[in-house]
Amino acid sequence: MNRAGKSIVLIGMMGAGKSSVGRCLQQRTGLVLRDTDQIVGEKFGRSISEIFSKYGEKRFREAESEALHGLPVNQPGIVVTGGGIVWREENVDLLQRLGTVVWLEADEATLFERASRSGQRPLLQTENPRKVFSQMLQARRPLYAKIADIRINTAVLTDEEVAVAILSKLRRLRRNPGPGSPIPATAR
Ligand code: S3P
Repeated sequence: MNRAGKSIVLIGMMGAGKSSVGRCLQQRTGLVLRDTDQIVGEKFGRSISEIFSKYGEKRFREAESEALHGLPVNQPGIVVTGGGIVWREENVDLLQRLGTVVWLEADEATLFERASRSGQRPLLQTENPRKVFSQMLQARRPLYAKIADIRINTAVLTDEEVAVAILSKLRRLRRNPGPGSPIPATAR
């Protein structure tokens, strides 16, 4: 659906490249970048791993929804989300209200390799992270697919190429961008 005047909302599994693609989009468009993990981290004054281990996933999910609720609906920007944000139904409505939802996807092996690289993902600190990851991905893929307006396979693209592909798809989606378009004229 065309949501001119709204944000570009990045969703997808850990390792999809949402944060780095978000930064590329920010540089290309000059729009404000809003990152739900960052907002939650700042609220607690802790890293996401610390929040999970000290307060648990449930508390993290509550804070994640609160962060999403706090985002401005009518101020275009780039919104970067955590991979699990689609799990709560209330979040899905909000994500769609914020703007054009872009799903960054890749094959499972690529996503897992990228996600485990940093060693920072709390949900992968388990005995069998590969299996946990696989189950999470299977459960989430239909949710990402359901709400995405745009879908990009990031497996063989650089972050810059992904950003370019998103902007190009957005242009096509927004044939007649009005003055409220989230893409400034300079970046079109
Ligand atoms: C999570 C993904 C993380 C972070 C948290 C939970 C998930 O964000 O929100 O560790 O449930 O997939 P990234 O997708 O940026 O890794």
